[in-house]
Amino acid sequence: MKLGFLKPLARIWAATPIGRRHKAFLLSSLATRDELVRALLKRDPNYCVRALFWNYFYSSTFRNALKNGSYPDPPVVRGFEDLTWLFASHYANMGIALLNLDEAAYLYRLAGSLRQARLAEIGRYKGGSTFLLAAAIDEGSTLLSVDNHSEGVVHDLKEQDESLKRILEIFRLDGKVDLVVGDSTGVRVDPESIDLLFIDGDHRYESVRRDYHHWKEALKPGGHLLFHDADNSRPFSIGDCPLGAVDFMRDMRETESRFFTRTKTVGSLVHFVRTTVPFAR
Ligand SMILES: C[S@@+](CC[C@H](N)C(=O)[O-])C[C@H]1O[C@@H](n2cnc3c(N)ncnc32)[C@H](O)[C@@H]1O
Repeated sequence: MKLGFLKPLARIWAATPIGRRHKAFLLSSLATRDELVRALLKRDPNYCVRALFWNYFYSSTFRNALKNGSYPDPPVVRGFEDLTWLFASHYANMGIALLNLDEAAYLYRLAGSLRQARLAEIGRYKGGSTFLLAAAIDEGSTLLSVDNHSEGVVHDLKEQDESLKRILEIFRLDGKVDLVVGDSTGVRVDPESIDLLFIDGDHRYESVRRDYHHWKEALKPGGHLLFHDADNSRPFSIGDCPLGAVDFMRDMRETESRFFTRTKTVGSLVHFVRTTVPFAR
């Protein structure tokens, strides 16, 4: 096959006055579109899901809305509607927060209902859930956010943390948040000191189990324990991550139900409330 026609195209491409990142983005968009067309031609649901994943992967790789400043002006969160910049419309183009809208709204309302509370999250990734929780809590409440940056393959999570710190400062929320870089089980927390714990770290079964057992005693009686990606009864509620949290719900039912009462499921988010039954020593 003669490829001579590629030379002028390559010259035009080289002369196009856009940066390398944008060029990479353009190329990746074309690749994504090709995947989608093939998915449609094949009429294979698995293929479509993969295509959607790649669409998500490519679009999120080159987008950092924390930096782009698509947040409200003036930078004040008066209600949930001022947080829409953290989201996109579906998993395939998910934004900064790796949460579905209904899950995020539920978390926002629950965190906002607490007073003078101590919250903790395991896994902040790009900082979407961190910002959401920080915006929801009242002035007297604080959030401890732990992430070991282990999933910083697509995104540089150190850089994301810097963007997150800046945006928290802009919104004057930085005083409420403690961003810890480290392993979730390396953090020491006092017994019965936490009002709400959001577990969204490593999604493999053993890791979810480890997180739960390391943190369970930190929850106050009446405190809230939430697992993300822990229920897959709604189609596409969980992305491409392992289903360890879904499997761990069996343990919660069979051995932990004395200590935690399951109260609500929203999307893949499962909400438990700590009972008053003490843990055996
Ligand atoms: C699914 S993402 C969190 C998404 C975030 N909560 C949100 O809603 O936008 C999982 C995060 O957990 C972190 N992680 C994985 N294993 C961890 C561990 N053992 N300790 C702390 N963080 C961990 C990863 O680096 C990643 O950023």
